[in-house]
Amino acid sequence: MTTTTEEIIPVNAHLELRATDERYTTELHNLVVKNRAYLQDYLNWPQFVGSEEDTRQNILSNQMLHQRGYAKMFLIFRDNVLAGVLSFNSIEPLNKTGYIGYWLDEAHQGQGIISLALEAFIGYYAGRGEIRRFVIKCRVDNAASNQVALRNGFLLEGCLKEAEFLNGRYDDQNIYARICTS
Ligand SMILES: CC(C)(COP(=O)(O)OP(=O)(O)OC[C@H]1O[C@@H](n2cnc3c(N)ncnc32)[C@H](O)[C@@H]1OP(=O)(O)O)[C@@H](O)C(=O)NCCC(=O)NCCS
Repeated sequence: MTTTTEEIIPVNAHLELRATDERYTTELHNLVVKNRAYLQDYLNWPQFVGSEEDTRQNILSNQMLHQRGYAKMFLIFRDNVLAGVLSFNSIEPLNKTGYIGYWLDEAHQGQGIISLALEAFIGYYAGRGEIRRFVIKCRVDNAASNQVALRNGFLLEGCLKEAEFLNGRYDDQNIYARICTS
């Protein structure tokens, strides 16, 4: 009999990151639906999430990319309650570069959850030697996300002009990076 081990990145006594899995479909779908209106001001994809089946398909495709090393999607749990998502939206394996994305349930903001989770995530992938260049790209107007990058020691490398399409406009994007070699 084969057993599958869940991939978990511990953060602290209350927080952990669990690799996305089909078993979390309902929980994730409900969290997206609950936060859809607020997330839509920051991310383009929530408008396209319709049924729970859409969420299941998204999880399955992310699981495949996760296993192949082209992306990594983790669910953030605080005291066993789903609080948000932290991912490498994409990975360039040759360059050991990971492009980070995140969002939090509105009720879980302002508590340092993403910043703490991000430190553990970076430590995990740098420690394994898989990623050395960690990148955050966020709209110049997204104050909270720019703060996450700065709070976690990322350096602003530049501003990409009209690089992100959101709600009918192409907005400027800041690009931040942090290099971790061990
Ligand atoms: C971006 C986003 C995840 C940031 O959430 P956040 O709660 O501000 O970030 P953190 O979890 O790191 O928490 C930081 C806040 O907790 C506070 N905090 C409390 N304890 C803390 C701790 N131990 N460590 C760090 N910060 C702590 C900080 O002071 C800060 O609050 P402030 O902004 O009022 O000063 C959230 O705003 C979000 O989901 N936005 C919508 C989606 C989005 O924009 N994603 C990014 C696209 S690029």
